[in-house]
Amino acid sequence: MKLLKLILVLSLSLAFSSQVLAQNKQFGYVGAKGCKMCHNTKKQGQQYKIWLKSKHAQAYKTLASEKAKAIAKEKGIADPQKADECLQCHVTAHGVDAKLLGKKYSIEEGVSCESCHGPGKVYKKKKTMIAISKGEIDPASVGLIKPDEKTCKNCHNEKSPTFKEFDYEKFYEKIKHEKPKKS
Ligand code: HEC
Ligand code: HEC
Ligand code: HEC
Ligand code: HEC
Repeated sequence: MKLLKLILVLSLSLAFSSQVLAQNKQFGYVGAKGCKMCHNTKKQGQQYKIWLKSKHAQAYKTLASEKAKAIAKEKGIADPQKADECLQCHVTAHGVDAKLLGKKYSIEEGVSCESCHGPGKVYKKKKTMIAISKGEIDPASVGLIKPDEKTCKNCHNEKSPTFKEFDYEKFYEKIKHEKPKKS
């Protein structure tokens, strides 16, 4: 009886830990250039070009501005481009294990594709991308997140020293990069 109980507890905790592992499965980051090769054509909607023109692509450089330095000084931070307190919202994959950062990943890209869509090393394969768009595989199982208002609010919140009221519809209009509809 005791043995049976032990086996039960053991198998339950095993099932639980493998579930937790699946949820925390870690995917590698490839950087925006890893998406550019396919997402910069007119047919696909030029997502790379649109992003590059957005403020998100400047988010790391912004931390070198006079304004950033003044905000940092108030908080006793010497260099905002090196401070966790600023980088957590101004770059992609901040705080992630360096082993997960691919060769093309660059901190200079600021808030790039993978900040919103999730680390792309596994889902960026053409076959996988097509299977996702056809609904044949669960995007989350390969690391692709469907971004929504909640995703934005990870950074667009009161913890931002320059916080502006966040209106999803208005802000989304400024960054949208949809695939053109076939006519
Ligand atoms: C090898 C080419 C290729 C690369 C590299 C690639 N994609 Fe894609 N992606 C595609 C194709 C093809 C589709 C399907 C588009 C369609 O519907 O015609 C797609 C679809 C998507 C979609 C829509 C998925 C859906 O729900 O329908 C997102 C979001 C996306 N890609 C993001 C990314 C991001 C972010 C990266 C970089 C980390 C990336 N892709 C890299 C080819 C690629
Ligand atoms: C990883 C953090 C992060 C996420 C996630 C994020 N943003 Fe941002 N966003 C920023 C930062 C940082 C800036 C400021 C960049 C700069 O000015 O250098 C910014 C700026 C913007 C701006 C320009 C605002 C202005 O004053 O002109 C818009 C619009 C915007 N974000 C929309 C969105 C939307 C919509 C989402 C969700 C789909 C989103 N953001 C998700 C960090 C983030
Ligand atoms: C919680 C996320 C978050 C943190 C932490 C954060 N920022 Fe930002 N930052 C943003 C967002 C989002 C924006 C876009 C405008 C807004 O809503 O504040 C932004 C915009 C900015 C801007 C441009 C503002 C403008 O109006 O031109 C500067 C400068 C800036 N941040 C500096 C900093 C500095 C310096 C730190 C660290 C002390 C920091 N930020 C920490 C999210 C953050
Ligand atoms: C600030 C967050 C953010 C960033 C940065 C971002 N995206 Fe998106 N992306 C979104 C949101 C939000 C949507 C709309 C999701 C929806 O409605 O399902 C979207 C949609 C897409 C789609 C689907 C388009 C369609 O109409 O089917 C593709 C493809 C895509 N993004 C690729 C990229 C690529 C490539 C980059 C970088 C070059 C990028 N995104 C950067 C938030 C972002």
